Amino acid sequence: MTPADALPASRAHDSIGVFDSGVGGLSVLRALREELPAERFVYVADSGHAPYGERDDAHVIARSHAITRYLLERHHIKALVVACNTATAAAIKLLRQDYPDLPIVGIEPALKPAAAQSQTKHVGVMATRGTLNSEKFRTLLESLHGQATFVLQPCDGLADAIEHADATKIIAACARYTGAMGPFGTENNAMDTLVLGCTHYPFVTDVLRPLVGDHVAFLEGGAPVARQTRRRLVERGWLATSDAAQRPTAAALTFGTTGQRDELVSAVQRWLHMAVEAETLKIE
Ligand code: DGL
Repeated sequence: MTPADALPASRAHDSIGVFDSGVGGLSVLRALREELPAERFVYVADSGHAPYGERDDAHVIARSHAITRYLLERHHIKALVVACNTATAAAIKLLRQDYPDLPIVGIEPALKPAAAQSQTKHVGVMATRGTLNSEKFRTLLESLHGQATFVLQPCDGLADAIEHADATKIIAACARYTGAMGPFGTENNAMDTLVLGCTHYPFVTDVLRPLVGDHVAFLEGGAPVARQTRRRLVERGWLATSDAAQRPTAAALTFGTTGQRDELVSAVQRWLHMAVEAETLKIE
């Protein structure tokens, strides 16, 4: 056996799997591509089984397992990014138990940075009902006790409206939920920071902005997830080369959906400014 044969094969050029209940995780993929331009990504939108945020944990756990299995078996992924707050809250602990050798990075609502940066110490949190009701979220909230007042708003129907690019429903839901949360702004007792605790919501900041005013900061979790993914790859020595000559192009991205292909393709076009193809997947 030569020394080279004795070394484990490098995983540097294998893909990173990314999944969400639908198109929302594209906001995380956008941040991943910025942080890790040399990596290959396989994105799965589980739109045929969405929304996760209004389903029970058993559904979200079963779907998260099925997609992880698919990504490992079919794409031999070297790392997994759960680009969904709801799936992270319900399933990441179990996924890590079942796949101890796979680096798995999840996303949680950005409450900690929000509490740190808010001047009024009043922070709004928009998220799915599933995320807000989860034990993981409760623990996060308790860990910040006394640091800020958090106004929690479950946003039933908003992710689904974004999924289907239904402008009328998006505008109505954003108006209804921000209206129910209380005053936004820089005055005492007003929320000067709004956590977008679902990966779909960063795509409707243009609708939210006039509703909350110019001085409210929006916080999303894509960039910290991307940095954490980089750290996990570096630890293992699995980071892809950043040699510009080898930098992957759009061909380094693979898209699949369990729902409507055209909805994923147009979301990628709209938000990542890329013309791509998507495969229809049946993942059971
Ligand atoms: N994008 C998902 C999240 O971050 C949830 C959307 C859904 O309800 O399916 O929580």
